[in-house]
Amino acid sequence: MEKPKVFVTRRNLPAGLDLILADCQADIWEIDSPTPRPILLKRIQGVAGLLSMLSDHIDGEVMDAAGPGLKVISTYAVGVDNIDVEEATRRGIPVGHTPDVLTEATADFAFALLMAAARRVVEADRYVRTGHWQTWDQTTLLGVEVHGATLGIVGFGRIGQAMARRARGFAMRVLYFDRQVKTGNLPADLIAEPVDLDTLLRESDFVSLHVPLTDQTRRWFDAQSFAKMKSGAILINTSRGAVVDQPALHEALSSGKLTAAGIDVFDPEPLPMDSPLLTLNNLVITPHIASAARETRERMAVMAVENLLAGVRGERLPHCANPQVYPKG
Ligand code: GLV
Ligand code: GLV
Repeated sequence: MEKPKVFVTRRNLPAGLDLILADCQADIWEIDSPTPRPILLKRIQGVAGLLSMLSDHIDGEVMDAAGPGLKVISTYAVGVDNIDVEEATRRGIPVGHTPDVLTEATADFAFALLMAAARRVVEADRYVRTGHWQTWDQTTLLGVEVHGATLGIVGFGRIGQAMARRARGFAMRVLYFDRQVKTGNLPADLIAEPVDLDTLLRESDFVSLHVPLTDQTRRWFDAQSFAKMKSGAILINTSRGAVVDQPALHEALSSGKLTAAGIDVFDPEPLPMDSPLLTLNNLVITPHIASAARETRERMAVMAVENLLAGVRGERLPHCANPQVYPKG
């Protein structure tokens, strides 16, 4: 039997490639940057499976280009906002993603951003490297305390909950806002108070975002939200850049309404070099790397490959973002 054709939009998957090569006729984009759209539309013709990255925009046009034999879209990410999942569902195409395996690494990184923003770690590094360290001084690079502060977690799914566990180690008071989570279903050892969003914004010294990007969350954190936040609070975002209104964030940071922010995700990505955000010293900026721990990325690759291979074989995906494509049972 002929092996199914698949297209992989990025080389350098750290693991799992052997499995694809053994089972499929794999066409792999050979350069370590996103597959340009016209090339993607061409090379995807006639494939049974697509393995894509969060930097690829996968919509109906891509599905049309692949043709009716497309049996699976597997993304190397937990977030699926770059994929038109509704369109895939309409066509009966399962979309695979990589939940759970990146939860702890992402929460580690969100906490690293929280610490870095609070205690000005990155600014301090720049200060030393640029020759400003002339003497020891009582007030150099004063930050804010993390220990005992209040953390407000917006979106209390897996990653939000993992963030809450870390915060307990710093004796933080933890508040959360999530419309879906049922308090009764949370693990008993998770100590966090459900509150409405206004209360969370008003009372939190740190606000950390852990929601998926959807029509409801797009530009959700805008000037109004910043106005409701405690003066001097710190915002952390490791979810998706478009959840935050970036000009409003710039204004909140430059006016001093927010003391600082730690942001891993932007809209667009990469952040253009002329972005006004780059002029702000009280903003810690990282290039969408919250899940970028070696073991985590390997597990994500294996999981993305397992989803791809199950899909081309016509089996149920182990981690499917649109299980509605399968008959109930
Ligand atoms: C990363 O942002 C992911 O969604 O996996
Ligand atoms: C992501 O995995 C989440 O549920 O927060």
